[in-house]
Amino acid sequence: SNPAAADNAPAGAPVLPDAAHEPDAPAIIRRKDYTPFPWRVPEVRLAFDLGIESTRVEATLSVEPNPQAGAASAIRLDGDGLVLESVAVDGEPRDDWQRDGEALVVPLSSGPHTLTIVTRIAPAENTQLMGLYASGGMLCTQCEAEGFRRITFFPDRPDVLSVYTVRMEADAQAFPVLLSNGNPVEEGQLEGGRHFAEWHDPWPKPSYLFALVAGDLVARRDSFTTMGGREVELGVWVREADLSRTEHAMESIKRSMKWDEETYGREYDLDRFNIVAVGDFNMGAMENKGLNIFNTKYVLADEETATDADFDAIEGVIGHEYFHNWSGNRITCRDWFQLSLKEGFTVLRDQTFSEDLHGAAVKRIGDVRMLRSVQFPEDSGPFAHPIRPDSYKEISNFYTATIYNKGAEVIRMMRSMAGLEAFRKGSDLYFERHDGEAATCEDFVKAMEDGAGLDLTQFRRWYEQAGTPQVTVEQHHEGDRVTLTLAQVVPATPGQPDKLPVPIPLKIALFDREAGTHSGEQLIVLTQESQDFTFDGHAKPPVLSINRNFTAPVAIERDIAREDLVFLAAHDDDAFARHEAMQELLLGYLLGDGDEAAREAIGTAAGAILADDALDHEMRAELLGLPTFAYLAERSEVFDPGAMVDKREGLKTWLGETFAGRFAQLHDSLAEPSRAAGMAGKQARRMRSVALAYLAAADPADGAKRGLAQYRDAPGMTDRQGALAVLAGLDGPERDEALADFYSRFADNALVIDKWFTLQASALREDVLGQIEQLARHQAFTMSNPNRVRALYAAAAGNPLAFHAADGTGYRMIADLILELNLRNPQLAARFVPSLGRFRRIEPKRAAMMRAELERIAGAGKLSRDVAEQVEASLG
Ligand code: PHE
Ligand code: ZN
Repeated sequence: SNPAAADNAPAGAPVLPDAAHEPDAPAIIRRKDYTPFPWRVPEVRLAFDLGIESTRVEATLSVEPNPQAGAASAIRLDGDGLVLESVAVDGEPRDDWQRDGEALVVPLSSGPHTLTIVTRIAPAENTQLMGLYASGGMLCTQCEAEGFRRITFFPDRPDVLSVYTVRMEADAQAFPVLLSNGNPVEEGQLEGGRHFAEWHDPWPKPSYLFALVAGDLVARRDSFTTMGGREVELGVWVREADLSRTEHAMESIKRSMKWDEETYGREYDLDRFNIVAVGDFNMGAMENKGLNIFNTKYVLADEETATDADFDAIEGVIGHEYFHNWSGNRITCRDWFQLSLKEGFTVLRDQTFSEDLHGAAVKRIGDVRMLRSVQFPEDSGPFAHPIRPDSYKEISNFYTATIYNKGAEVIRMMRSMAGLEAFRKGSDLYFERHDGEAATCEDFVKAMEDGAGLDLTQFRRWYEQAGTPQVTVEQHHEGDRVTLTLAQVVPATPGQPDKLPVPIPLKIALFDREAGTHSGEQLIVLTQESQDFTFDGHAKPPVLSINRNFTAPVAIERDIAREDLVFLAAHDDDAFARHEAMQELLLGYLLGDGDEAAREAIGTAAGAILADDALDHEMRAELLGLPTFAYLAERSEVFDPGAMVDKREGLKTWLGETFAGRFAQLHDSLAEPSRAAGMAGKQARRMRSVALAYLAAADPADGAKRGLAQYRDAPGMTDRQGALAVLAGLDGPERDEALADFYSRFADNALVIDKWFTLQASALREDVLGQIEQLARHQAFTMSNPNRVRALYAAAAGNPLAFHAADGTGYRMIADLILELNLRNPQLAARFVPSLGRFRRIEPKRAAMMRAELERIAGAGKLSRDVAEQVEASLG
């Protein structure tokens, strides 16, 4: 039974049979079951009477039968946790409606009607942060994917597009600023210290793009003139205390607008573009039409409080949300199975935006590192799903690295195969053909075929199949001919035991070892299970550089001589491939039995990198980075976390000792004044903190001294955080001094205190779990702020010495966290399940304890749909 729904029903209202209310097992939604909604809703008028404790919502919907769908005798509107006050049709009060679980069903004769529905909601009690909620005294909304139904009854699905007019009424003192989508039309004072504002968005949109913000905010204002001459007023809205940290966000908006005009021919389409920073937010940011809402983490920055990486992340996320205005808003998704249509494409757009602005090499290396550390494990684990899934229970669980990042890689492959010019023709055709529509992934692929002139028949399998393709490479040399034999396997994933080969575009180069050069890069496409590629004119066996710039999101297994990897790590002219050669050397040692020769080869390559004056310092630092634990786990048959920490730390120590002089010289000489020094300063800062980490690994006492000095003299957060990351792993007064200073210096800045939690929870030290437990009891810790929860617990879940503590207490801690957040904030809770779900790849003793914790969650009573789906998938 469903008491909540029954409570809302006025006496006498018919209630559907119990079974229809809340089935025990949540329904599986399937892609093949898509049918259009029987009604169109061309216009929506929303009138809000806003209050933190209680908000009244009057929704007026114009509806008419959808000619693309079959006739219907009622309209079924989604709802979630709403208190219904009244229903009227064409101005007449009605009581012949029914509740179907949380939904509202209103009988309607054919023909156009006006539906007026009044509901009441309680923003202060909204701990899920979906729908209308309160954050630090302000009110804001989050509607994607299915949050609008927590505001009013509505066909809350992305293929119902409406023109919205929004009127907000509120106390003028508590909520002096009232914002919504589109352009402002009217505002004014009302009696009793209240005021109102009305906004109108002329572009038809689905409900998930609706947004409203009310609060005591101030704006940094600027303007942008579009290529068509439209003057756009820009606003970055924050609390007054944060205003001084909005310049970078504003500059990022303008760069995004310019880039999308130049690169994709896309122009902004409203008179206003506002972004608002909110302290409590489940995700990074949200692309609501004309009113993007951001996690403060992706808006606020100044040199004192934000690192270089933070600045870049802010620019990337601002770009991402802005680019959604076309790839997401003007063209939206027909249903949530098409999520990668907007997310994959928009991630590609934001990645290449950052590449164009700051150099492609380091950005690409970082993006691939993230893909391999997060998406590859997802794709080989119990929650593996295609970029266009076939079914789900809770759509929030599908905002994944697969949909986003593998989705971007799939479109990047089309771009590599087509070339930039043809790819642009394809995207132009896509935007032109589907503007104003709710489209599908198939529509995108078809537009690429027609516009870019590609045949993507077989390529469509990338949308259908989960799993990271494994490619093996064999190389033969005879006479002056080289033959590459490439074979592929797409591994079985849950529900997909048999796979077909996919087209795999690979950029390659064949290096002449003596000359240190190659005769040109080529793109080959592996389409079969196994295929030979021949190349003539090579008197001696060349050194193969393959999957240059990571053209395809695959794992490559090849038999290559160690000297050849050393050669590529020193000479490859493709920055990604050079980095990759170094990573292969490192993986070979860390995953192998640790022989001396493998370590010597790493030393030779590292020596060349440290001595190469042609390298910039950021690239040098990047080349010297060790593989992440997540990727090491992914590449291991059976992962032993404790053993791997020892081995990886041991290698760090050895490299630090071997190159102590050079690292010391780099650390001494690269003190850069500030961000004012531009790119060179950023590069120097990056190398400097990497040098410090190696020096500290080799000589902790010297590392602590240098670390504290770097901390004290730091001109900004990059050096300060770099020093603290090293100090946090050491012992002694330097560590204590720096951590205490950091806390008191930044006590009033939530984003910096998040760093303070993360730095400590990430430290590779034996006693880290106890420290995490202590941090969880710290006065600054709270379960109600998602950033704070992630700062502590995502770091803990990613720290092998904490999460994988041999006695299982790390697993219990994360399981307790999931249970505590389960109903309070299901989305946040569910994000922590996959770390436990990875047990099949962990050594058996720990694996059994991980599994037991999942079973404990499964048996713990009422689970949210989000957590239930993740736990079920994990237990398989
Ligand atoms: N659509 C947002 C983005 O990718 C992410 C998001 C999803 C935010 C769901 C909130 C809720 O930009
Ligand atoms: Zn997005």
